[in-house]
Amino acid sequence: MNFFSSKNDRLNMQITYYGHSCFGVEVNGKNLLFDPFITPNELAKNIDANIVKADYILISHGHEDHIADAVSIAKRTGAKVICNWEINVWLQKQGLENIHPMNTGGKVKLDFGNVKCVKAEHSSMLPDGSNGGNPMGFIVESVEGNFYYAGDTALTYDMKLIGEYRTIKFAFLPIGDNFTMGPENAMIASDFIHCKDIIGMHYDTFGYIQIDKAEAQRKFELSGKKLTLLEIGQTITK
Ligand code: NI
Ligand code: MN
Repeated sequence: MNFFSSKNDRLNMQITYYGHSCFGVEVNGKNLLFDPFITPNELAKNIDANIVKADYILISHGHEDHIADAVSIAKRTGAKVICNWEINVWLQKQGLENIHPMNTGGKVKLDFGNVKCVKAEHSSMLPDGSNGGNPMGFIVESVEGNFYYAGDTALTYDMKLIGEYRTIKFAFLPIGDNFTMGPENAMIASDFIHCKDIIGMHYDTFGYIQIDKAEAQRKFELSGKKLTLLEIGQTITK
């Protein structure tokens, strides 16, 4: 192994799927956990939320299926939670202190890279009915590359701004339809952000969002794109 290949081996991100829209991404040696929803998810019953690693927990919006395990994992790991102002206020009431509040358009420099909050077209009420602020997506920037985690969102024309702003190596997009965009709109989103390498999320967990996965992947492939659908518990490198 020469110097360059060993260097390139380190310039990779490890992605682990925990079901629904919950992913762990190791960036620059730090574990980022997105939208923890594990213990209530029947499909993720083989995942033990008590051993999931997190240095940072990023929460896109307040819905139960994105925040259910956030408090317990944050308390166990001491992870810093990144979320909007309103969710920050709510999490403080649940006893969390290590929170970095943000809002749409804002960027923060952290020890692994930068996180920028971008617009998501959705809603965001918290599980107890509290105001969850505005939903967001995240752009994570690091020396290992940039990726986009869309959260729950419709296709929006604003996604073009993401493609103009940064080179996106891969993106997590919702594909389950009904509550978010479905596969066809995710393909257009892929064009808007200039990224052909898409990891699907927010599908199959509930009856409302069951889709024909093979058909979705075939459509992506026919248009020269790749839709990766991970097994729950699977880890890949990007
Ligand atoms: Ni939602
Ligand atoms: Mn959702």
